[in-house]
Amino acid sequence: MTTHKIAVIAGDGIGKEVVPAAIECLERIAQLHSIRCEFTYLPWGSDYYGEHGRMMPVDGLEVLAKHDAIFLGAVGSPEVPDAESLWGLLIPIRREFQQYINLRPVKTLDGVKSPLANKTPIDVLIVRENNEGEYSEVGGRTYRGLPHETAVQETIFTRLGVSRAAHYAASLASSRSGHLTSATKSNGIIHTMPFWDEVVEETTRLYPDVTLSSELVDALAAHLVLKPWTYDVIVASNLLGDILSDLGSSVTGSIGVAPSANLNPDGDYPSLFEPVHGSAPDIAGKGLANPVGQIWSGAMMLEHLGHPEAAGHLQLAFESVLREGLGTRDVGGPSSTSEFTAAVLAAIDDLYAADSLDTGTSGKPAAAAASSS
Ligand code: NAI
Ligand code: MG
Repeated sequence: MTTHKIAVIAGDGIGKEVVPAAIECLERIAQLHSIRCEFTYLPWGSDYYGEHGRMMPVDGLEVLAKHDAIFLGAVGSPEVPDAESLWGLLIPIRREFQQYINLRPVKTLDGVKSPLANKTPIDVLIVRENNEGEYSEVGGRTYRGLPHETAVQETIFTRLGVSRAAHYAASLASSRSGHLTSATKSNGIIHTMPFWDEVVEETTRLYPDVTLSSELVDALAAHLVLKPWTYDVIVASNLLGDILSDLGSSVTGSIGVAPSANLNPDGDYPSLFEPVHGSAPDIAGKGLANPVGQIWSGAMMLEHLGHPEAAGHLQLAFESVLREGLGTRDVGGPSSTSEFTAAVLAAIDDLYAADSLDTGTSGKPAAAAASSS
């Protein structure tokens, strides 16, 4: 039996609360499905920065490369400039490991109240280009402190980068409703965005069953609030995808439930799984953090590692606890992080026990296999 080697970086703030919660759930699921996982805990992040002046060791990427997947909480602390924490850990991992897809499901969950008046279910996949675009190192600042101080930052779009994101999104759309929306701003940003539009359109033409709509991101943002259920797969550049996915998760009820997968679809490097939210210093250490985004990211990791049934089982478990109204405070429930986690562990056991009684065949809940993540 293969042992999956998983590098765990809890990071900062609520990362230190939601990661252990999710690992408990993953361990229980792995045990029930006879999946072998070996977790290696890496104490990297802002505390490490305080001691060593860097977010991870010099050979950090080499250490991570020896693993099959990376499970990350969040990085960021009021004591460390955000640019240092992001560019010192997460961005190098995403880039060096060619995790060029950031897949962010935006989905209504029973028991998580959407702020929208219209309760039509939402089920959108945001495909964010994760390696280039607006998050670029090219640029600089001159005349610091003077009245004519200037800052320049270049956006970088490459044919390779845009087309591989578009391929991934189009193929995902083809496996779902066949409708792909591309976020653009080619009316205002007149070089890079028309290039994005052209490459996305050329790529999508290779998928005859996919229809492409290109939407200006300002209108798209408004539509994601007014009629999010009309979208299926959205492909967006690094910055636009980042913003749209925070917006999307808030529209479904809470940023605390939103998962994400930073994928190297070619399998040359480990992929990284993390919730969309950050380290939430405002609630850190208080037992208030919602672990759903982290647990759901764990389900995406299981699916990526070739265990869709176990992933579906985990998803059914946390969804059932939310449905019972036992979520954390951010979703209007009464539970602390640990109470919610205990309820998910019990729900996992219940699902498994019910299935053994019902069928006694596969040892896995039939409904879990049908669920997608
Ligand atoms: P944030 O996502 O940490 O928090 C935004 C708001 O949502 C806060 O009010 C927070 O309490 C709430 N929230 C977030 N996750 C929650 C959860 N699981 N349960 C309940 N409530 C939750 O974003 P913010 O405040 O902009 O950033 C805080 C720090 O995190 C910064 O240093 C930032 O750079 C970093 N960050 C790190 C990310 C990462 O590691 N991938 C992503 C986003 C931000
Ligand atoms: Mg974000």
